[in-house]
Amino acid sequence: MKKTVLYAVATAMVLGLCFTGASIASDDKGPAEITLESTIDKAKKAKPSIFPHAKHQETLTCGDCHHSKDADGKQVAYVEGQKVEKCESCHNKAAGMPKKLTTFKEAAHANCKACHKKKDKALAKCTVCHPKKK
Ligand code: HEC
Ligand code: HEC
Ligand code: HEC
Ligand code: HEC
Repeated sequence: MKKTVLYAVATAMVLGLCFTGASIASDDKGPAEITLESTIDKAKKAKPSIFPHAKHQETLTCGDCHHSKDADGKQVAYVEGQKVEKCESCHNKAAGMPKKLTTFKEAAHANCKACHKKKDKALAKCTVCHPKKK
């Protein structure tokens, strides 16, 4: 009797762990604020970018920025709950990306800066994302 109870408790615990694990993976919205900094193909003088992630999530969809790639290296649209990788893990010079998307800088400027420019020219100023050091 005691053994069965213990077994049931253990099973419940294992299942519980699995379920919480799964929900963390699919509900993970990432950090609210991120300082983006190139680590591969970085400029001689670092130029970190501030990024209010949560604020963008209020008005945009995850797929406006996130995507993945298939075995042939083709871009695959974001699907809910997918594993989110760092932009640099694909957008680096060694990965054979097309022109203007080879580095974190280029991918970020093509995504972030292009949208900012479309919304309002003032938003595309360098210092909006790369604030001057105090
Ligand atoms: C909408 C946001 C945004 C704007 C506007 C923007 N950038 Fe960036 N930039 C980024 C992000 C994000 C990165 C990649 C992460 C980082 O900062 O290293 C980046 C990367 C860079 C890098 C490479 C940094 C490094 O350490 O390797 C340089 C240089 C740069 N930007 C220059 C500029 C200049 C000059 C302007 C204005 C003409 C500008 N950026 C405007 C977001 C922006
Ligand atoms: C405006 C663009 C944008 C939108 C919209 C956006 N994200 Fe992000 N997210 C980013 C960037 C940029 C990073 C940092 C990636 C890096 O460091 O290379 C990031 C990081 C993350 C991370 C952390 C990844 C890690 O390295 O651990 C998660 C998780 C994440 N986002 C999930 C989401 C989800 C879920 C949504 C939708 C609810 C979303 N994001 C919407 C741009 C965006
Ligand atoms: C798993 C690999 C992978 C990751 C991670 C990734 N990308 Fe991409 N990205 C690609 C591929 C593949 C393409 C298509 C390139 C082509 O045109 O052949 C692409 C295309 C793009 C484009 C041009 C097409 C479009 O959708 O506008 C932009 C901009 C871009 N990525 C920005 C980003 C940013 C910003 C991040 C991080 C938030 C990111 N990428 C993360 C693989 C990736
Ligand atoms: C699809 C459009 C879009 C994309 C992509 C996007 N942004 Fe923005 N971003 C906006 C808009 C619109 C605003 C201004 C409205 C607001 O403050 O919410 C903004 C505001 C900002 C601000 C200023 C926030 C403030 O409090 O004044 C920063 C910094 C910023 N974005 C950085 C980034 C970076 C870095 C990326 C890429 C990783 C990015 N954005 C991608 C649309 C976008």
